[in-house]
Amino acid sequence: MNAIFKIAVLPGDGIGPEVTEEALKVLRAIEGVLGPKFRFQTGLVGGCAIDATAVPLPPETISICNHAQAVLLGAVGGPRWDSRRPDSRPEAGLLQLRQRLRVYANLRPARVIDSLVSVSALKPAVVRGTDLVIVRELMGGIYFGNPRGIFSKNGERMGVNTEVYHESEVERVAHRAFQLARQRRRKVTSVDKANVLESSRLWRDVVTRVGQAYPDVALEHLYVDNCAMQLIARPTSFDVILTNNIFGDILSDEAAMLTGSIGLLPSASLGERSGLYEPVHGSAPDIVGKKRANPIATIASVALMLRYSFHMERAAAAIEAAIEKVLRSGARTPDLPGRKRAITTSRMGNLIAEATVKFLSSPRFLPKEKP
Ligand code: IPM
Ligand code: MG
Repeated sequence: MNAIFKIAVLPGDGIGPEVTEEALKVLRAIEGVLGPKFRFQTGLVGGCAIDATAVPLPPETISICNHAQAVLLGAVGGPRWDSRRPDSRPEAGLLQLRQRLRVYANLRPARVIDSLVSVSALKPAVVRGTDLVIVRELMGGIYFGNPRGIFSKNGERMGVNTEVYHESEVERVAHRAFQLARQRRRKVTSVDKANVLESSRLWRDVVTRVGQAYPDVALEHLYVDNCAMQLIARPTSFDVILTNNIFGDILSDEAAMLTGSIGLLPSASLGERSGLYEPVHGSAPDIVGKKRANPIATIASVALMLRYSFHMERAAAAIEAAIEKVLRSGARTPDLPGRKRAITTSRMGNLIAEATVKFLSSPRFLPKEKP
């Protein structure tokens, strides 16, 4: 393969650089066997960008991302920047980047790997076989709605945020969810709070209408409080969960705990053009530099990049198979309880890179049908 893929790499803060390094290791290993060239360009985002340039998303980083076919991001944030106003915090850099790249559909797969069933906080009989994807709307809702701010009124302060959704915003992300469901078990659960919120009533209306174009996909609606409960009670019954920005943020952390560790969960944020790939976990300031970070979520995000941005399904599947194989062998970073002594971030990266190369070098390795 002679293709050249340009990837913007934004390691960010905290453990971001440590986990990103391992994901790049896996890409370089794939380059060695399959031959495509990955061109990496590194940029600043989040707290490190604030320290260097005073803003969380410098123009240079935007330009690097605009010239790339995909963006890999580590993590942003940390206690050092916690007292700043929301619009100049590290997180603002990530939110601006999502807007700039116009990535409106955030896919967060949560799959319980058989060898980790006992690591989950839930009983094995409840979680075994869990395989769901949260499709989170990423460019709208209360994260971006106006009016917003802290205002003074009648001698006291008032904090205001606004949940807004336009029909077109719901439509485009709903189409993504139904299309994804067609490649999976053909079920969409749309999650809202239509018993209380107008924005949710509109959401439900639009999703129902879009769903009529997909008669082969079953559609159910759940209120978000009920969904939070059902995720714990019957996680295997979910296939695609479609929801708004804030509910998706919350439910994806909950879904992460079904799998045992948030250190395992990747994400892909997709729009019409670009793709942004990042682990669901944060910058974990408490373990920075201790070689304890689990790189699997970022490595699995790179698998999603190969699948969705570069259409390299076999390579994507090889990474996923490698992650499972390495976990089955008993290798564990400290976030995952195990019988053996925990291994370091880079050791985990090496094992997965080696196993990926093995799978790719075997002509017998063929990907299963996957989204
Ligand atoms: C996530 C994170 C971000 C979000 C933060 C860091 C802004 O929690 O990606 O889930 O709320 O979207
Ligand atoms: Mg979150």
